[in-house]
Amino acid sequence: MANQRVLTGITTSGTPHLGNYAGAIRPAVAASRQAGVESFYFLADYHALIKVQDPVRVQQSTLEIAASWLACGLDPDKVWFYRQSDIPEIPELTWLLTCVAGKGLLNRAHAYKAAVDKNTAEGNDADAGITAGLFMYPVLMAADILLFGAHKVPVGRDQVQHIEMARDFGARFNHLYGQAYFTLPEAAIEESVATLPGLDGRKMSKSYDNTIALFADATTLKKQIMGLLTDSKAPGAPKDTEDSALFQLYQAFATPEQTATMRKAFAEGIAWGDAKQQLFAVIDAEIAPMRERYNALMANPARIEAILQAGAAKARAIATPLLQDLRHAVGLRDLGSALPAQSNASNQKPALPVFKQYREKDGYFHFKLVAADGHELLVSIGHASPHEAGQMVARLKQEGGAALRHVAGAGLYLGEMQVGRLAADAALEQVIEALAAFAEEGV
Ligand code: TRP
Repeated sequence: MANQRVLTGITTSGTPHLGNYAGAIRPAVAASRQAGVESFYFLADYHALIKVQDPVRVQQSTLEIAASWLACGLDPDKVWFYRQSDIPEIPELTWLLTCVAGKGLLNRAHAYKAAVDKNTAEGNDADAGITAGLFMYPVLMAADILLFGAHKVPVGRDQVQHIEMARDFGARFNHLYGQAYFTLPEAAIEESVATLPGLDGRKMSKSYDNTIALFADATTLKKQIMGLLTDSKAPGAPKDTEDSALFQLYQAFATPEQTATMRKAFAEGIAWGDAKQQLFAVIDAEIAPMRERYNALMANPARIEAILQAGAAKARAIATPLLQDLRHAVGLRDLGSALPAQSNASNQKPALPVFKQYREKDGYFHFKLVAADGHELLVSIGHASPHEAGQMVARLKQEGGAALRHVAGAGLYLGEMQVGRLAADAALEQVIEALAAFAEEGV
């Protein structure tokens, strides 16, 4: 089997903290060392511009994030490590995808919808203060992913919808231009990866202002850890490991043996001050060697720049030929080349799949999705009225390509709604491809 391509972007809008390290950087670096995997990690600086319009912060964050990933052991010779804005094929592909992306689908993107809902709740114009950048965010992200043929995209739950959209845009393009130009990616949500609590016990996050910096000097790190919120149990009183931020942080950096010892110490009433000293010790033991590399890299930004330039060249070796094919596919061509005999694309468009509605003996209304070649793809559940069945058909046409999923043993679902089941011998991919054909017809 060909290598699995794993790709993920890091928005350059902040300074990495311990939560980013345990939740993203550490598992990614470990995964990048596996055999049979091609890893693509990039600095999503175009995405950063959507929320950060302070150029110094963009530059500083890009530098810090690049230095952090390298210091944490990412090997640029083994992986593709590059900066989004060094790859002109990304914005170029963004435009090609923009021209197949359904505006209705983008209207339903969570981040955009949340901004609209907030405006509406506050009695403002629905789009007040919303840039087209925020609206187009999923298309740019789809270009990031599709350009490199990623199979798996490790992301947080909040990003899953964006991967579904990338599948939808990719499937529409493939269908419209009649060839599998794009691999359809899948989100990979790493359930076992640590979500670290922050200084106040809530999830560590910039938006709660409760983060512990990844590469602060040891003195600052210690001070932050000593300030970690605990309950007020006195030394000698047994302490709960459950719901203890201190214990969870400890566990994320300690060996299983150390964790077992700490669990015992909690039961025996270790003083919070002592527990914090030990927490600092395990974190610092892991971070200190990386901190040294980080400081050396930060002292030599030109070296980071050179690493990124080399990464861009390596990434463009993949991107440039694909874009050439795509330009040709859509008709952006050398005019000196012979005009193909067929006329415009609409004449050659493959026949559409069809929805067939019918009533069963039990009185319920069903529909089937049948591919253009007559092959059955999907059989619906029964509906109480033809209208209800028709509404489900309309929803499938509009959003099925992006949001349809197969639940083992339970059939096909659109969000929480049960749709039906796959026809015998049909695959989910075929259903999605067929639905993409409707979406681009606008029917
Ligand atoms: N949107 C992602 C985030 O905020 C960052 C990102 C940009 C990304 N492009 C990507 C992630 C492509 C995965 C693949 O976390």
